Amino acid sequence: MKSILITGGCGFIGANFVRLAIEQLPAARIVNLDKLTYAGNPENLAGLENHPRYRFVKGDICDASLVGRLFAEEGFDCVVHFAAESHVDRSIEGPAEFISTNILGTFTLLEAARKAWKGTVPLKGQSPRFLHVSTDEVYGSLGETGYFTETTPYDPRSPYSASKASSDHLVSAYHHTYGLPVLITNCSNNYGPYQFPEKLIPLIINNALNGKDLPVYGDGKNVRDWLYVVDHCTAILKVLGNGRIGETYNVGGNSEKQNIEVVQTICDILDEKSGLLSSGQPRRSLIRFVKDRAGHDRRYAIDASKISDELGWQPSLAFDEGIRRTIDWYLENSDWISAVLDGSYHTYYQKMYGER
Ligand code: NAD
Ligand code: DAU
Repeated sequence: MKSILITGGCGFIGANFVRLAIEQLPAARIVNLDKLTYAGNPENLAGLENHPRYRFVKGDICDASLVGRLFAEEGFDCVVHFAAESHVDRSIEGPAEFISTNILGTFTLLEAARKAWKGTVPLKGQSPRFLHVSTDEVYGSLGETGYFTETTPYDPRSPYSASKASSDHLVSAYHHTYGLPVLITNCSNNYGPYQFPEKLIPLIINNALNGKDLPVYGDGKNVRDWLYVVDHCTAILKVLGNGRIGETYNVGGNSEKQNIEVVQTICDILDEKSGLLSSGQPRRSLIRFVKDRAGHDRRYAIDASKISDELGWQPSLAFDEGIRRTIDWYLENSDWISAVLDGSYHTYYQKMYGER
């Protein structure tokens, strides 16, 4: 049986990945190491607590003795590393946590893997593998045309993207220097169930539902390439299974949208599903153009032909369908939104595990 360490499994993408991995990798034991920051919600994995192939460990990836102990106890042959501080706006307000978790935390995991796997590299077959989950933001900002490929030079422009770029470089360096069997994925913007409602799409859905202002930064014409989160998770599974060691794979939705288009689409779908606002106005009337994000990257767009050609991965959902599915999920889980916003979901953790 494979033994997989997943870091940050209580966050948005990590939780979707843990659920998919439990289902799609029936011979894998999964250990989820998560510090439960504001973004980590154990309820995202409700129902798995007593699963025979799942273990949750509350802890910090920067804690070298904890990470080393887990490697010794569990004999991991795979690491899928999601844990990070992930919100650009928070990195502008306070970069320190980003440096600590994203850089030092990644370094701590690399050191633990290097020690645990020493002498076992190179191996025949698939194991071991250290898959580092990263972002398209490391490549900087595009103009009107062009795409990020795996050979685009790094040009991070926020404390968040600089910390992710730094972690990517460490991961690559551990491959080149020590032969650590690493893989890196650089993905575009995700959306879907369990996304903390401070990122654009869940924030707009929640505010639009509650008749609150819809803040659009700058002129609203910044472009992001949107990918449904489960498609990102299937890409990670493909790379984990069949990606070439030492390689980077870009992952994207082939679905570029201006922010204002995304916000208007959400407004229109909610008007259709839930009726107009109590004032009789459509939800587009809530849109407010606000002060721009400092250093706001203008456009991201991914060329995902490498993962498509080598591993046969393609996104399964177009944005039009994915956004409807996402809105339905938030409509059905309004309690989840209130609980994550007021922090009360942590009572679930106390109930299940007896501490916070
Ligand atoms: P998230 O903020 O929703 O979740 C992060 C998780 O990591 C949380 O569960 C949190 O508790 C945990 N965590 C944070 N610091 C930790 C620490 N020191 N030790 C242990 N756990 C810690 O993030 P997300 O949006 O799910 O992103 C996951 C990964 O994917 C990140 O590495 C991010 O850079 C990358 N990524 C995200 C996107 C996106 O659109 N969200 C796109 C591309 C890549
Ligand atoms: O590209 C991948 C990245 O996508 C990931 O690495 C990050 O972890 C993830 O958070 C996301 O970063 P963005 O900064 O692109 O996502 P965010 O949802 O914060 O913003 C999306 C766009 O919407 C961006 O251009 C800023 C804008 N925006 C955002 C918020 C929160 C607004 O106009 N208004 C808002 O209130």
